[in-house]
Amino acid sequence: MIEAASTRRPFVAEPMLTVALSKGRILTETLPLLAAAGIVPDEDPAVSRRLILGTSSPGVRLLIVGPTDVPAYVLHGGADVGVTGKDVLAEQEQAILYEPLDLGIGRCRLMLAGREGLEPSRAQPRVATKYVASTRAFFAARGQQVDVIKLYGSMELAPLVGLADWIVDLVDTGNTLRANGLAPLETVMEVSARLVVNPASWKTKHAAVRRLVADLAAAVERQGARA
Ligand code: PRP
Repeated sequence: MIEAASTRRPFVAEPMLTVALSKGRILTETLPLLAAAGIVPDEDPAVSRRLILGTSSPGVRLLIVGPTDVPAYVLHGGADVGVTGKDVLAEQEQAILYEPLDLGIGRCRLMLAGREGLEPSRAQPRVATKYVASTRAFFAARGQQVDVIKLYGSMELAPLVGLADWIVDLVDTGNTLRANGLAPLETVMEVSARLVVNPASWKTKHAAVRRLVADLAAAVERQGARA
């Protein structure tokens, strides 16, 4: 029997895509890329206190998560995709997120820095950083023994009070280093924001995820062409 149109089950809609973002510079630079892909938040995430935002695209919602929590949300399925810095991704123990796109935004460097003109005072230098895994990998590759001290912010302070000989921290303009009498020594990693995808979502929501990746890749390319 043919069902009457009104009783038919609705056409199965495309699955909802949940995108994890964190506030700050990456968010500011991600919004124009999302807009170019036809995704505009219902409220300004920089101002709104809401943590789940609808968008102009009915199939996409945004989550506003803590700055270093994007990988956890995407890895454990709280979000299908996310945008986060390479510096954050490099600290993850398991590299099992798909990373299909370099968004070319949030560019800066993870750098080794120390006091201007001063050699380390310890035979085995101490390095203060929030980026323990990247720092260990950097010194392991150089075959140099160091003690790594984990800090959560204001790393520039550590060499000034003798807590550490060096720091490993993000450097953008270099103003924070200069203001504290520190000098960049070596680049540990070039950093930019990456689109990351939950491996299960990559399979189960393949069409929607692929379209988002393609739309964002086109937006990145247009932005690069304008720069
Ligand atoms: C970052 C980084 C440096 C500063 C570098 O801190 O940790 O302190 O920016 O930028 P600059 O080279 O342009 O001076 P951020 O303000 O992001 O806060 P955080 O210390 O919480 O990471």
